[in-house]
Amino acid sequence: MLPYMKKIFIGMAMAASVAAVWAATPVYLDETQPLDLRVQDALSRMTTAEKIAIIHAQSKFSSPGVQRLGIPGIWCTDGPHGIRPDVLWDEWEQAGATNDSCVAFPALTCLAATWNPEMSALYGKSIGEEARYRNKNVLLGPGVNINRTPLNGRNFEYMGEDPWLASRMVVPYITEVQKNGVAACVKHYALNNQEVDRDHANVLVDDRTLHEIYLPGFKAAVTEGGAWSIMPGYNKYNGDHACENSVLLLDILKGDWGFDGVAISDWGAVHNTDKVATNGLDMEFGSWTNGLNWGASNAYDNYFLAKPYAEKIEKGELPMSDLDDKAARVLRLIMRTEMDRNRPYGSLNSDEHYAAARKIGGEGIVLLKNEGNLLPVKPSTKKILVVGENAIKMMTVGGGSSSLKVQRETLPLDGLRRAASEKGIELEYERGYVGDVGGEYNGVTTGQDLNDSRSADQLIADAVSKAKEADMVIFVGGLNKADHQDAEGTDREDFALPYNQGAVIEALAAANPNTIVVNLTGNPYSMEWKDKVPAIVQGWYIGSEAGNAIADVLFGEVNPSGKLPFTFAKSLTDYAAHASGDQTMYPGKDGDVVYKEGLDVGYRYTDRLKPSRVNYAFGHGLSYTTFDLGTPKVENPSAARYTVTIPVKNTGDRTGAEVVQGYVRDVKSSVRRPIKELKAFNKVEVAPGETADVTLTFDPSSFAFYNDKTGLWTVEPGKFELLIGTSSDDIKARIPVNITSPMTWKDSEKIPD
Ligand code: BGC
Repeated sequence: MLPYMKKIFIGMAMAASVAAVWAATPVYLDETQPLDLRVQDALSRMTTAEKIAIIHAQSKFSSPGVQRLGIPGIWCTDGPHGIRPDVLWDEWEQAGATNDSCVAFPALTCLAATWNPEMSALYGKSIGEEARYRNKNVLLGPGVNINRTPLNGRNFEYMGEDPWLASRMVVPYITEVQKNGVAACVKHYALNNQEVDRDHANVLVDDRTLHEIYLPGFKAAVTEGGAWSIMPGYNKYNGDHACENSVLLLDILKGDWGFDGVAISDWGAVHNTDKVATNGLDMEFGSWTNGLNWGASNAYDNYFLAKPYAEKIEKGELPMSDLDDKAARVLRLIMRTEMDRNRPYGSLNSDEHYAAARKIGGEGIVLLKNEGNLLPVKPSTKKILVVGENAIKMMTVGGGSSSLKVQRETLPLDGLRRAASEKGIELEYERGYVGDVGGEYNGVTTGQDLNDSRSADQLIADAVSKAKEADMVIFVGGLNKADHQDAEGTDREDFALPYNQGAVIEALAAANPNTIVVNLTGNPYSMEWKDKVPAIVQGWYIGSEAGNAIADVLFGEVNPSGKLPFTFAKSLTDYAAHASGDQTMYPGKDGDVVYKEGLDVGYRYTDRLKPSRVNYAFGHGLSYTTFDLGTPKVENPSAARYTVTIPVKNTGDRTGAEVVQGYVRDVKSSVRRPIKELKAFNKVEVAPGETADVTLTFDPSSFAFYNDKTGLWTVEPGKFELLIGTSSDDIKARIPVNITSPMTWKDSEKIPD
């Protein structure tokens, strides 16, 4: 008998009285024993009622453990940009604690725009430490839903339009969070790409698009990141809600990808006991149950996975085996987190976390345009006028579940004022427009009074008159976290910037030729004013260090190196989901949202049909220096594997970083392929006059498509091109390669050598 088996059976050999004591004070298998054995050991001691109890919520964000056995419960927190303030037991309203302020990290769009997995690791480490310190064992994030439409109110919580970029960026985030003994909960699985009708929208999409565009981020999170939990979303896929969808949960997630973690429902996303019991969901949170009023407290016993489930098991209508599997997964998560005695203690609001937020923010900011090298701000500048509501508005409060209560938030105006005064530059502020003056979310208030009684014309006139007297105007605008902007629960209603900002920008540009536009958004927008201003900066929601990160870039402390994680097209109809105005594609008709555009998402669409309809392409981003890419060296160690080494020379006069991007083009294929697809990238910092080598690797998956007839990833022999560039519309080298033999593999199999 193996030593661990001995331990299990020790109890059986004891006298009855001793066994009773033993059961009351369990001696668990110690941590040197295999996790699954420990899980089975704990499970074997639990009653059915205890198993039922641990698979559903007991409060808004927690689920019970097993008090009798000393097994702790689960405490979840949003996610994904900072640790949410604690809420009341049964309500969304904040509890009013005084120890739950956090550092707000940049929104995930900003993280994705760094194109730097090291930033993702730093992000995961920092937010994981904050979650750990706050004693949360599940962090509800990160999100990897693909930016299908720029109207989606939650795109700011995701990692852009490209599955490869999202996949590379999500993995280090998860790995580093989980090193803290905190489970990452990847969301919202899957096809949750709009907020309109999000509870019921039934997405219909072909298998190839599902596997090539919408699943890779989740797959990487599970198979490479080893995520300990995942959040099936609100929407339906092929007629079944994601939480009740056997294809998504059983076939793909737990089958093909071998997920051994916990599928945690989005809050209120469960609708049917039988389906959640049997189709792969493990835990239920946030439900409001039939027969109870909206907002009723202590509804937890009536959850779909509570009493109704227990009754069906007792009557033999549903099998115990599914309950055992769910409870075992929950136990595994608890043992990986709260019951891991070796996990670190975490830290909160540390200098390191502020530094991380500032660094990631600075690296994610994208310099879109810089005519005449207007930026960085020259030391000779005497007077700067800052205009715009987003320069003075706290952006960490609002937007839905990612709303935070920050320890501090440096506003753009404060950061710019600090940097200007350090350089002896005078700085003034004018509002320019009034957008959203709200500043409250679930009882967290910004304390800001943003009301301004001036008329729209007066606001512009006041800004223009000061603009004429300044050397330079910095306009800080964009979207915000109010409904119908970048916010959960609603989608945007317009692709243009709101609140007449276009007119404000044009008036400022007419008054002062040195007008710089800095937009803080989580989405692209139209830019009718683009040619009238010499410089444009894409600034995102940057969190606690927003003002400092923006000032770092504008004043040249940081040389910008961010690249767009999605396409900035000219108009809404330049995104395939909106091109034809077909309501079935967006926002949906009769309950269905049909992804008729298939693979044509973002640059995959504009590349093919509308290259001239792009303002700024996927992957675009300038620097204060310039780079030259030298001749690539190609190695081909085995079939369909290539290593490309590219010398990157800094031809300017300051240190900077460039992201070299590798796209693959299938020259001829039996199926329609996008013109090109991102399959590799690497960021490198180079000193002026120096050259550094960047290496990109391509493997069979870089050339494969998902064959929806066979269900196999497929590489067809023939000609391909490796396109090496610094943006999707700036390809510097095309390397022809020839693949000589076909390859296929299942989603569940490793990529062949
Ligand atoms: C959101 C999730 C969030 C959950 C808990 C839901 O409404 O969709 O992203 O984690 O609430 O706040």
